[in-house]
Amino acid sequence: MNKPRLIIDTDPGHDDAIALILAHHFADVLGITTVAGNTSIENATRNAIRICDLLGSETPVHRGAAAPLAAEPAFASEVHGTDGLGGIPLPEPSRSETSDRAVEYLLEAVDPDVWVVAVGPLTNIAHVLTQDKSWFERIAGLSVMGGAPHGGNVTATAEFNIYFDPEAADVVFSANGKTLMSGLNLTHQVQISETELKEVDRAAPDSARTQFIDQNFARIIERLGDLTGSPEVAMHDPCAVFAVTHPELFEFLPRDVMIELNGTLTRGMTVVDERKRVGRKPSKVAVGYEVNAEAVKGLIFDVLYGNSQAS
Ligand code: RIB
Ligand code: CA
Repeated sequence: MNKPRLIIDTDPGHDDAIALILAHHFADVLGITTVAGNTSIENATRNAIRICDLLGSETPVHRGAAAPLAAEPAFASEVHGTDGLGGIPLPEPSRSETSDRAVEYLLEAVDPDVWVVAVGPLTNIAHVLTQDKSWFERIAGLSVMGGAPHGGNVTATAEFNIYFDPEAADVVFSANGKTLMSGLNLTHQVQISETELKEVDRAAPDSARTQFIDQNFARIIERLGDLTGSPEVAMHDPCAVFAVTHPELFEFLPRDVMIELNGTLTRGMTVVDERKRVGRKPSKVAVGYEVNAEAVKGLIFDVLYGNSQAS
């Protein structure tokens, strides 16, 4: 069976790094576009290329937006470190970015069987839709890691990717194109702890790749443990990849999703309308509610620690 064809829009970022590794294993990654979010656009682009180098991948990397549409950038350095990857030692990029025209690439790469997986702020996607309202009709769909029907992480009511650029999220969700939203309610079902990592059956021989993966988990679990008291990490961005590559492991339901732009305490909130209403036109936006977390974690450990055969 042919692998799904993906473009990954990303702000690497510790969980982005895992998502990129998984995407390259389970899918045909046509291109990567970078966006400021966890870290600056320079760091995000440098990290995307360094992760590709680790995988021996020549996937094109196109630099995207350096700042949100309207908000001031608020990088997540306290979680992802000042360089976006917790200062993990990796060789310098083997190549420079393919282009600094991520939006043009996303506009030109459209194809009915290509999914775009957005695991950072939606700034690039918003620019695309501003230039071409028909874009959604010319791709298979958009899989977003972002938002939450209830609660938040960067504030009590907002999830980071939406909060970083709420105006962009408003453009994307109000377009009502075919969208899968993997929010915190879903991604927090897929937590990986220090204990689990110690128990993983490690078939992979020690390598630069496994050393990076170990350090990547160690850094993010340490920082989240210091922040929350729970030494574990949710597989936020990997869920948005698996929603496309392994849809049978998820349940998504159509929901109208609106973005709060003006609330003092709620700016960046995804307002998910869960009310039952007769005659309501089903939204093209679907929100993830259920995931087979054990199956997803099994896939993650198999790929990261080498138990899986080539898929
Ligand atoms: O809230 C989680 C999201 O914010 C993930 O995409 C993570 O990488 C950060 O960008
Ligand atoms: Ca991310």
